[in-house]
This record gives sequence, structure tokens and C-alpha cells, in this order.
Amino acid sequence: MIPVNEPLLGDRELEYVSECIRTGWISSAGRFLEDFEEQWASFCGMKYGVAVSNGTAALQAAFGCIGLRPGDKVIMPTFTIISCAMAVVRAGGIPVLVDSDPDDWCMDVGQVEALITPRTRAIMVVHMYGHPVDMDPVMALAARHGLTVIEDAAEVHGAEYLSGRGGPAPRWRTCGGIGHVATFSFFANKLVTTGEGGMVVTDDDRIAERARSLRNLCFRTDRRFLHTELGHQFRLTNMQAAVGVGQVRRIGKIVERKRWLAAEYTRRLEDLRGRVQLPMERSWARSVFWVYGLVLGDDVPFEAVEFATRLKRLGVETRPFFLGMHEQPVFHDRNLFQGERHPVAERLARRGLYVPSGLALTVEQVERVSAAVHEILA
Ligand SMILES: Cc1ncc(COP(=O)(O)O)c(C=O)c1O
Repeated sequence: MIPVNEPLLGDRELEYVSECIRTGWISSAGRFLEDFEEQWASFCGMKYGVAVSNGTAALQAAFGCIGLRPGDKVIMPTFTIISCAMAVVRAGGIPVLVDSDPDDWCMDVGQVEALITPRTRAIMVVHMYGHPVDMDPVMALAARHGLTVIEDAAEVHGAEYLSGRGGPAPRWRTCGGIGHVATFSFFANKLVTTGEGGMVVTDDDRIAERARSLRNLCFRTDRRFLHTELGHQFRLTNMQAAVGVGQVRRIGKIVERKRWLAAEYTRRLEDLRGRVQLPMERSWARSVFWVYGLVLGDDVPFEAVEFATRLKRLGVETRPFFLGMHEQPVFHDRNLFQGERHPVAERLARRGLYVPSGLALTVEQVERVSAAVHEILA
């Protein structure tokens, strides 16, 4: 079976983790934590990084930092992981959902403006499967309406976005460095991994300070064990950060490898276009192709679940695409999104899956996966 994801770790990670064990710096303080936060924030073009225990915690901390009032609305895509909507709801807010773009699978930013009301407080963009969201229109709307932009960059380590197109000084910006606050996941299937891990990055001193406090139980600085607020225990360990530091310096190579793997898939599957939709890249985007998604064309007489079963029989592991937030019973039970329809996201959820896409994938495996896809769809 070709696994859907296998991380690729190196000698440097082993050396750094060993140093933690040798020196006893195994908990939530130490040089690797500081380095990881500094290096990752700087890679994104942000001032501050606050490492946390996972990407879900990063989202929760980010919403804790912007301080939603009960009933504040947050515009976000329906097509994403539950961590995003959960963070809004847990912070007392109400998610307002937009559908996806059928081509790049990111949120359809054209739908955002019509949803803004006096109760809207923030826009959460989620860069999808390696591809950036079109950020300029989002930032312009946010500026006009005084909204905070949270970028969930869990899936786009190192992806770039061409900002200021058509103006005098367009420039490539790193995803996670464009909104007011951004979050990352470093789960084992991400481009940079710490096993489990996450980070909040921002340029804003107050957000950074608050994220540090929320991460560590909101201990007051004037008197430890005195609390005036409820925080979280979202700390990352120095050992996990050591694994991350081992990879940050080679992020360029990691991105290159992901882009190369995607190109190898596309070259082999291009002739199936029409039967299956492949990942695309906008002219203003440099995708990192976090996963290689396939969406079945309308004339294919079965859904992605059946496609996955057939691929599994041929030794290929896959994962289904997300199921939109508006289709989640857990939110219907809370009187959210009942009766909402988002046709693009619904189609992606039923017709989409991703094939093995990890950094350890070999070109021979890409060949075998592509042959299996041909056998089923040709
Ligand atoms: C877009 C997005 N946000 C958040 C998360 C949550 O990250 P974690 O699994 O580290 O909690 C993920 C996980 O894959 C994700 O894809």
C-alpha cells in the first residue's frame, strides 16, 4: 500500500532532539522554541511567532486574541476542517459561510462583500490544499469595514501570493504573512512538521503578548498563580520545536520537492482531464501543492468513496476531501447553517479525494498511483 503521507525527517532533526534529551531541555522552554518561533515568523515576514501544541489550538488562541463579543460574525469558507468553525463558535462568535471556487478550491472571495453586516468582526481565510486565497480583495474589504483578517495557513507553508497586481509595485508575499494574524499546523503531514504542533504569527505586539498568555494558562505576571482570565494549556515542547528548527532552513528545498511531485503527477494524469480535475495554480499564486487532489468529472458514474475503494484495491491509500461546515450535524444541533446550500463545496466533498502526496513519495510511487488512476478512469 502506498501511504497517503509519510514525513521525511533528516539528521539535523535527530541531532537537535538528541541535544534536548542530553541537556534536559525537554519541556516548554529552551533555545529551540525561541529559534523556531523567531525563524518561522521571520520566514513568513511577521514580527512574532507564538508556538502552540497544534493548528487547532493556534486558531483558538488567535480568536482568543482578537476578542470576539457574543454574536460577532466571522466570514469564512464552508469547505475546510472543523477546527476553523469550532474556534469561532468556542470564542462566542457565529461563522458565516461562503462557498468555494470550483477551480482552485479556495473560498470564493467574490461572495464575501455581500455578507458583511454591522455584526461582522473578522474574515477567516483558509488557504486550501497548498494554494493561496486571493488576499488583496479580502484585505481591501477588511480595511474598508474595519475587520480583522485571520489567515489559516496550516496547509500552505511557503506558498506565495502576488500582491498589488496591476499597481506600481506588485510583490510576492508569503502566505501567513499577509493577514493581521495567521495560524499554522505542524502535524506530521504538513510541509514542516513537529509531529504535533502549531503557531500563531503576527506583527501586532498586543496579539503576540496575548497569545503567549493564553497559551500558558493566563498566569499573571505580577503574581504567579493569580488569575483574572481563563487561558489554555497549549504549550509546545522544546523537543518538538527542535524537530521544526531542523526543517526551517531547508523549507526552500521542501517546497521545491512538493512542486516537483505535483508536476510529476500532472504530467502523467493530464490526458485524463475532463474525466478528472487536477490541482491548478493561478498566475498570481505559487502553490506548494500540499496534497494532490483529484475531483471526478461529471461523466464519471461513481463518487469519490467508490474511487477510493478502487484505488485501495490497487494499493493506493487516499483521503476524502473536506465535508463543508454547513453539512455538519454538530452545527445543525446548535441552530447553525440549517438549510444552507453551497453547491461547489458539496460537489468537492462528494467528488474529491487526494492521492499520496507526502515528502517521502518516490517517482516510482507517483508512477504506480498514476497507473492506478488510469486503470480506473481511462
Ligand atoms: C486548514 C487547516 N486548519 C487547521 C488544521 C488543524 O491543525 P491540527 O491538526 O494541527 O490541529 C488543519 C489540519 O490539517 C487544517 O488543514
